[in-house]
Amino acid sequence: MYAQMIKSEGGKDPSEMTPEEVRFQARIDAGEKIEPKDWMPEGYRKTLIRQIGQHAHSEIVGQLPEGNWITRAPTLERKAILLAKVQDEAGHGLYLYCAAETLGVSRDDLTEQLLSGRMKYSSIFNYPTLTWADVGAVGWLVDGAAIMNQVPLQRTSYGPYSRAMIRICKEESFHQRQGFDIMMKMAQGTPEQKRMAQDALNRFWYPSLMMFGPSDAESVHSAQNMAWKIKINTNDELRQKFVDQTVPQAEYLGLTVPDPDLKWNEERGHYDFSEPDWTEFFDVLNGNGPCNNERMEARQEAWADGQWVRDGLMAHAAKKRARKMAAE
Ligand SMILES: [Fe+2]
Ligand SMILES: [Fe+2]
Repeated sequence: MYAQMIKSEGGKDPSEMTPEEVRFQARIDAGEKIEPKDWMPEGYRKTLIRQIGQHAHSEIVGQLPEGNWITRAPTLERKAILLAKVQDEAGHGLYLYCAAETLGVSRDDLTEQLLSGRMKYSSIFNYPTLTWADVGAVGWLVDGAAIMNQVPLQRTSYGPYSRAMIRICKEESFHQRQGFDIMMKMAQGTPEQKRMAQDALNRFWYPSLMMFGPSDAESVHSAQNMAWKIKINTNDELRQKFVDQTVPQAEYLGLTVPDPDLKWNEERGHYDFSEPDWTEFFDVLNGNGPCNNERMEARQEAWADGQWVRDGLMAHAAKKRARKMAAE
């Protein structure tokens, strides 16, 4: 029964597992959380460092397209809201770097991997925010897709990651609502504002669908991650859920989803929709999106600009240590 369960979930066959691995899998199957000092397979640790690290980088890089609009927000109220939202994203990055650090990697290490291109961040942030309506579309669609990805991760098996996700998801729903609220104002505004809202939806629709990643039905890797409860749903499941939730919202706004093949499928109880252009996805992932260079340059610059702060903190810590030793 146990063997069958693991096999059907796509993990390793128990006959190939060490006794430690069997015990580890049994804890996960029983819904227990794995904590930093617990034994864990090397693959589990590495996959989590990668996943949490890339998630942290995405939160930080994700501040850039919206930060771009803080000085140009149309009212003081909109500016305050956007400022709070962008600050939240910085906080998300920090919780996640801390969660990754519990796995034995340093934040400096992760940052260096980002800056050298060995670690990625979500490709969605390589698209520009050209108009104020884009800030609405980002909150509505991009934060909306992020929530879809992150809500199930609250149940992920790794304790620190799961707890970070619970906190992050609460703030993400505020982000999504503020985006939808901007879209509502624009869609009900002047014909020009409505046109801007439609244009933002046109440009952000497919990149948002890409946020769930390519279809993973075939991937062995993904099966192992599901058995470990690092991944809870397949990419296709989450994408479908996102489309089903978002299409009625677009209708409510009086906007048109830019997909002529989009239609409700009574039999499946879901919308049928067109796949995004996966060539574009891999192209952007490989560095050729409209803003890849700009984003990386901004991060490089921020890291270099912060050097004196890091140096100062280290010097202060060394002085304190020396003083303490002299007093002893
Ligand atoms: Fe976030
Ligand atoms: Fe967010």
